[in-house]
Parts: sequence; C-alpha cells; structure tokens
Amino acid sequence: MTTIRLPGLVDVHTHLRVPGQTHKEDFASGTAAALAGGFTTILAMPNTQPPITTPEILDLTRAEAQATARCDVGIFAGAAINNSHLLPLLAHHSCGLKIYLDQTFGPLRINDLATLMEHFATWPGPQPIAVHAEENSLAQVLGLAAIYQQKIHICHVSRRAELELIARAKERGLPVTCEVTPHHLFLNSDDAARLGPYGQMRPPLQSEYDRAGLWELLHFVDCIATDHAPHTRAEKESSTPPPGIPGLETALPLMLTAVDAGKLTFSQIIELMSTAPRRIFNLPAVEENTWIEVDTGAIWSIPQFGWQTRAGWSSFAGRTVRGRVERVILRGVEVYAQQIVMAAPGCGEVLF
Ligand code: DOR
Ligand code: ZN
Ligand code: ZN
Repeated sequence: MTTIRLPGLVDVHTHLRVPGQTHKEDFASGTAAALAGGFTTILAMPNTQPPITTPEILDLTRAEAQATARCDVGIFAGAAINNSHLLPLLAHHSCGLKIYLDQTFGPLRINDLATLMEHFATWPGPQPIAVHAEENSLAQVLGLAAIYQQKIHICHVSRRAELELIARAKERGLPVTCEVTPHHLFLNSDDAARLGPYGQMRPPLQSEYDRAGLWELLHFVDCIATDHAPHTRAEKESSTPPPGIPGLETALPLMLTAVDAGKLTFSQIIELMSTAPRRIFNLPAVEENTWIEVDTGAIWSIPQFGWQTRAGWSSFAGRTVRGRVERVILRGVEVYAQQIVMAAPGCGEVLF
C-alpha cells in the first residue's frame, strides 16, 4: 500500500438541492459524499427550489448548512431577472454570483442583454462571477468581463474551441479563470449514446476531438470541478430525465488514474483540486490539521451501488480506477475512514 497525504480538496461546483429538492440530496448526504471523495470544502450552486436569489433564502440555506453540513460549505447567490438590486446584500454571505446563460436544470437563466449588463455593473466583488456560458454565450461573457472589469469563472468548459478562446482571453490579460469536469475529461458522445439518461448533462458530453482537446490544453485550465448534479434513478429513467450526474465520489480516483497513466502529476492534482480553487474563490488556506490520505496503488472497479450521495448511482460504474481515498481528517478529527463517514452533521463550517 502506498499512502500519500494531500491537502483537503475543494469542489467549486456542487449541486446540493437545498432548499426544496432534498430527495435528490441535502447538506448531510452531499457533504458525506464530498468527504468520501476527499473534498473538505464544497461550493454549492443556487439553482434550487426556490433558487437562492434573495438574502432571506440565502440566510435560510446558510442556517441549514451550519446545522447539517459535514464539511465546509460556501454558497453561491443566483442571478435572476429581477434581483440585480439585491446583489450588494447577497455579496456579503455568498462565495460568488452564478449566472446561467444557457440551458440548465431549473428556471434560473438570463438571456436578456440589459439584465446581464445590470448584473455585471452591480456585482460588487471581490468574489468572482461564475457563469454557465457555452459557445457564443462564452464570447458574450468574456466581452462583459472586459467591459465591466469583473473577475469571471467559466464553469464546466467542454469544447476545444471554448478552451482556446479562454486561452486567448487570458493572454490578453482578462480576469478569467475556468474549470473542467471529470466527466468531460473521461467521457465523450459515444459514451453518452451508451449511457442513455445517465450520460445526459449540460453541457452535454462532446466529441472525442473536444474531449482530447481538454487534455491537450489542460495548461489553460485553472481547476477541476465536479458539477456534482444528483438526480434519483427514478427521475433519470422517467420520460423526461433531468440533466446532471453525481461526481463527488469519483473525481479524485479518476484523476489519480490519469496520474498513473502519465497524463498529469500529483502536484498538478493538488494545484487543480485544492490550491487554485482556494485562490480563485478567496477561501481560507487549508488548516494544518486538515488533510486526506490516499492509497495510490488501490485498484478497484467503480460500483453501481453503495454511494454516499442520495443519487445512488454513477455514470462511471464498471470502470477500473487506481487510487482511493483512505482517510479524511478535518480540523484534527477523523471524519472518514475505511469507507465510513464519521463526521457529524454540523461539523462543517459555513464560509462567507
Ligand atoms: O447537467 C446539469 N445539471 N447542468 C446544469 O447546468 C445544472 C445541473 C443540475 O442542477 O442538475
Ligand atoms: Zn452549469
Ligand atoms: Zn452545475
């Protein structure tokens, strides 16, 4: 057994379904999945029911996180068509503003240019504006970032051309960072056909040309984020399957397998999954008594069942990976070991 110690990982893109859809996930189950995956901090998305677009809903969600989260949690505020006047208030207690410009799960979306301009003009920072912006929408938000001098973070980049455009924007000095997901790095449109609803998410799985492009241009990628988007099996097997797949418990094993295959190094994993996320979102430095232990030699097959996430399935089931989270220590307390989550609900801290 080769055990290495890594700093607690940070996932800057997690859907936890609080408030309103806790049959899919809640803070207790989602943060248990986070710990099992080696994440000690996660940033939760606002496309909940209702969406997190007012200070009241943000406060209620933070209180729920404080009472029930098993790892540290930051919460995004959502941009709605009618809440730009609330952004200065929302900024105090959120890890960033999330704007959806393209098709997603739930109604939170802004297509109207005037409303987008208002949000870019009003968001006070210093936290970034995270965007779901694909293809032409990406060009649009890069223009807005330049004009309003706002720090933007591009979520789940999935196409080669998008990453090339972000590279050009970075070369021009634009304040832009970006993430890619393990599913866009490890799966392509052939897998989508094989997986049916379990391979459906937004942005969709792309061609092999695009998937390979993410690896070729990985030096322009700031961080790996899971876009953990839990839905139940029954929902996925319905006639209208919602988009999204769980990812917290498989992200690190997949990335460690890529290290084994020579596609990246351990130090790149630390940068992409811990250091850069903390830097981009101004999170506190990892405490000395918080770390994870990983068996880099463990070879295992990703199972169908037995997950901490309430989704209870994985699109990667059947895949052999090398590398497994053995133990997680949060502020000196053993919170995960031998596949058992020991963390009590409420031991996580709410950031911001
Ligand atoms: O596939 C997705 N699922 N894409 C999104 O943008 C939202 C997410 C969800 O909340 O399920
Ligand atoms: Zn998205
Ligand atoms: Zn998402």
